Amino acid sequence: MIKKGIILAGGMGTRMSPLTKAVNKQLLPIYDKPLIFYPLSILMLAKIKDVLIIVNKGQLDQYKKIIPNGKKLGIKITYIEQDKPRGLPDAFILGEHFIKKQSVAMILGDNFFYGQSLSKMLNKCIKINKGAKVILHKVLDPEKFGVAKIKKNKILAIKEKPKKFVSDLAITGLYFFDKNVVKYSKQLKPSIRNELEITDLLNKYKKRNNLSAEFIGRGGAWLDTGSIEDFYKTSNFVSAIENQQGFKIACLEEISLNNKWITKKEITASIKFYGNCQYSNYLKKIIT
Ligand code: DAU
Repeated sequence: MIKKGIILAGGMGTRMSPLTKAVNKQLLPIYDKPLIFYPLSILMLAKIKDVLIIVNKGQLDQYKKIIPNGKKLGIKITYIEQDKPRGLPDAFILGEHFIKKQSVAMILGDNFFYGQSLSKMLNKCIKINKGAKVILHKVLDPEKFGVAKIKKNKILAIKEKPKKFVSDLAITGLYFFDKNVVKYSKQLKPSIRNELEITDLLNKYKKRNNLSAEFIGRGGAWLDTGSIEDFYKTSNFVSAIENQQGFKIACLEEISLNNKWITKKEITASIKFYGNCQYSNYLKKIIT
C-alpha cells in the first residue's frame, strides 16, 4: 500500500514569464485557489498523509506562507528545494530519505485531475506494491506529452513528446512506483535536453514487464497547466463546475474532514488563517 507522495512543484515557469518572475507557477491561481492545492488534493484523495513537496531553490518561503505545514490538514508535509530543474526522476533522488525504500506516488505540481471515478481509481493505484503504474488520457495533441502505445491494456511502447505519431494516449503527471524507484532513477543518464526523463525511468519498469496503466475515460478531465492559455482553460473549468454545483474542487480542509483526519476545530483555525474570503465562507458552510 502506498502511503507516501511527492509533489514536484519546482521549475522556472519560463513559459509563463513575467507572471513567474516573482512567484512560482504552482502558487498562481487556478480560479479561486493556488494551483498547488489541486495536486495536493489528489494525493489526499488517495489517502496519502505523508507528503514531500519539492520546490525551486529560493522559493520555499512563498510556499510556507500558504501551506506552512500539514497540521491544519491532519497530514505531514516536508519540503525540499531543487537547485535546478534536472528532470522529473530527480524527485526520487532528492527524495531518497523521504521515500525510505518504500513505494511512492508522484504528481506534477501543474497537473489537474477531475472526475466521478477518480477516488475509485486512486484507491486501486495505491494498492500496487510491485512495479510502476501510469495514468493515461486521450488527447488531441500527443506531441506535447509523454505517450504510451497500448494493445489489450498492455503497454507496448513509451515515448517522450514524439514528433511522429505513436499514440494519442498521454501519460499524465501522476505516477505510482515501487521501492526500486530510487535505485532506477540513480541509474538514468541525462537526455539530449540535459534532463533525466520520466519516460526512461518508466521504460526500466517496462523492460522488466512491471509497468501497468489505468485510464481516465472521456467522463474525466486531465489538464496540464503548462501555459497561460492552459491556466485560463482550467480556471474556467473549475469556475463552471463550482458555480453550478456549489461544491468546491480541491478544498483541502473538506477532503481532510471527509477522511476523518481533522475535526471542526482545525477548520475553524483554517478559517482564521485564510481570513474573510469566499474560501473561508465555504469552510464555514461545511462545519455548520
Ligand atoms: O504533464 C504530463 C507530462 O509532464 C508528461 O506527459 C511528460 O511525459 C513529462 O515529461 C512532463 O512533461 P512537461 O513538459 O509537462 O514537464 P515540465 O518540464 O513542464 O515539468 C512538469 C512540472 O514539474 C512543472 O510544474 C515543473 C516541475 N519540474 C520539472 C522539472 C523538469 C520540477 O519541479 N523540477 C524539474 O526538474
